[in-house]
Amino acid sequence: MTPAFDAVIAGTEIHATLTPDRDLTAPVWCLSLMGPGRVIEGGALLTRLGGYLEVRLPDLRAGVPHRIRLAHDDPQHRPANRAWLPLGGYLRLADGSCHALPRLPSGVVQPRPGAAARPQAAAAPWGGLRLVPQPAGWEPAEGTLRADAFAPQGDDGADALAAADALARRSGLGALIDVEGVPLVTELDPALPRDGHVLTIGPEGVRLVAAGRDGFLHGAVTLLTLIATHEGRIPCGTITDRPRYGWRGQHLDCARHFYAVPTILRLLDLMALLKMNRFHWHFADDEAFRLEVDCAPDLWRRTLWRGEGETVPGVFGGGIRAGGGYSKDEARQIIAHAAALGIEVLPEVEVPAHALALNRTIPGLRDPDDSGTERSVQGYPDNAVNPAMPATMAFLGPLLAEVAGMFPLGILHLGCDELAPGTWDGSPAADALKSREGLVTRDDLQGWMMARLAGDLERQGIRSAAWEESVKGGQGGIGHDALIFSWTGQGAGIAAARMGHDVVMCPAQHVYLDMAHTADPGDWGAAWAAFVGLEDTVDWRVVPAGCDDIAPRIVGVQGCFWSEFTTADHEFEAMIAPRILGVAVKGWNAEERVNGADLRAISATYGAFFDRIGWDWHRGA
Ligand code: ACM
Repeated sequence: MTPAFDAVIAGTEIHATLTPDRDLTAPVWCLSLMGPGRVIEGGALLTRLGGYLEVRLPDLRAGVPHRIRLAHDDPQHRPANRAWLPLGGYLRLADGSCHALPRLPSGVVQPRPGAAARPQAAAAPWGGLRLVPQPAGWEPAEGTLRADAFAPQGDDGADALAAADALARRSGLGALIDVEGVPLVTELDPALPRDGHVLTIGPEGVRLVAAGRDGFLHGAVTLLTLIATHEGRIPCGTITDRPRYGWRGQHLDCARHFYAVPTILRLLDLMALLKMNRFHWHFADDEAFRLEVDCAPDLWRRTLWRGEGETVPGVFGGGIRAGGGYSKDEARQIIAHAAALGIEVLPEVEVPAHALALNRTIPGLRDPDDSGTERSVQGYPDNAVNPAMPATMAFLGPLLAEVAGMFPLGILHLGCDELAPGTWDGSPAADALKSREGLVTRDDLQGWMMARLAGDLERQGIRSAAWEESVKGGQGGIGHDALIFSWTGQGAGIAAARMGHDVVMCPAQHVYLDMAHTADPGDWGAAWAAFVGLEDTVDWRVVPAGCDDIAPRIVGVQGCFWSEFTTADHEFEAMIAPRILGVAVKGWNAEERVNGADLRAISATYGAFFDRIGWDWHRGA
């Protein structure tokens, strides 16, 4: 069966048209929207979970179009672009068979850089050096060095140079190391600042002095980039470089969409090419817990697929069946690949909310007497675990220890965002715990839970991290030196820093790369925080004016990519790039030095760079 299917945004509504190629008796249309939706006309809502709907259609006649009008429950939830149209749709027939509907086109609206500005024009902003992030210091000299590859002289930094060479080769940039290449003298100088290096480029060769492995790696990445962006004629001069921030991160939501391991390795390669050093791996959320763990072997097995007949139905474009899991061997492969590139992996296990997959798999994490009717922001009931249930802490202790133990970073992210209003309010067990512990509000209870978990981890030598909400609560929230991620903006991060926490800034208005680039209805992406153009990724201050007192507490910057509307790996490429250039710039450079116009101009050079590494950054609508 090959029915025709189309859908368009019509004001606040979505109008879909289905034309079967044979007569169908009362089929059920299963689909997902960005949030809880309803049927206005053309069918009857049978059931729903979050943005997933099952709609009973009338009998359909072959070749006769049938129109269905849908809308989101929340009148503020106005469809912004094509990502908000029905995703993952299929028809279920009376005999139980399921038939996928054609996918609607995806893709961003984005001019090809290079169409707008030629690489020569892009040379101007940063002293002629086509390099993102730009170095802390650049002293140009006369002449150019003709180089396609380098021949290292000496053993210092050999391991880092080999890693950069492997990166260049597998990325499609060609060899960095070649015995026939121009001389590259390396020297270790521990007196240089941590992660720092000095590259002296002369017409006959290059000298790279670094403080350690990361410095050598950064210097080598600079060289392989300059070969590509200057077409083998590298400007002579001296680069003195070091990162401004220790945390230069990119997050990827692998729960809403399962990204294959090679896709993750490619993202790590891209991060390394931009000198980013933290990969925040979000493999657990309401929809799935994708990592293999020994302490709960059923957890990933029962949640890695979603769709027809699965623990979680086809929310967020899941369709008839979508998903996958990461075995421990694959996790080790990701960690090792990252480590060779100077990248540490931060794992995240989400509690207390965003835990529907836990609640549907592990018994006893909710109070059976809870009379609450709360709904999460994605429209899920029952998506929080209850800290008053003995099973909750008994289950989480070994789970968190096992996950943290798999990752050398020594930090575990505990989630703690978006607890739905009303959560635990109907739970007698939660009431009893609150009175026992002198807690009054929901935030107090959440803070108590987070502090308990963080304390247990601290005793095992593991530092906790969490989203900004984790510091709420009358008793100080999570405490325990937790690293806090400020995402709704920067205000919560500033407040957390003033409480004494280290903070990573990831304000959605600037570095949430799942936000659509533009307001164009033909574009693609979320819209709740902002439309995030390339310029927006750098036109902000990591340490806002008037916050110098907490500047030492701001340890870095991180881009985030949430996957609610991603149904194929390649779809994330044009969302990540070129905007990840801005994230890299904010993590590396002194912020005064780069504005959006500069970045737009330099991105012209990187269009060709992304093309060479096969990163589809301009997939047209
Ligand atoms: C978040 O974006 N809910 C951390």
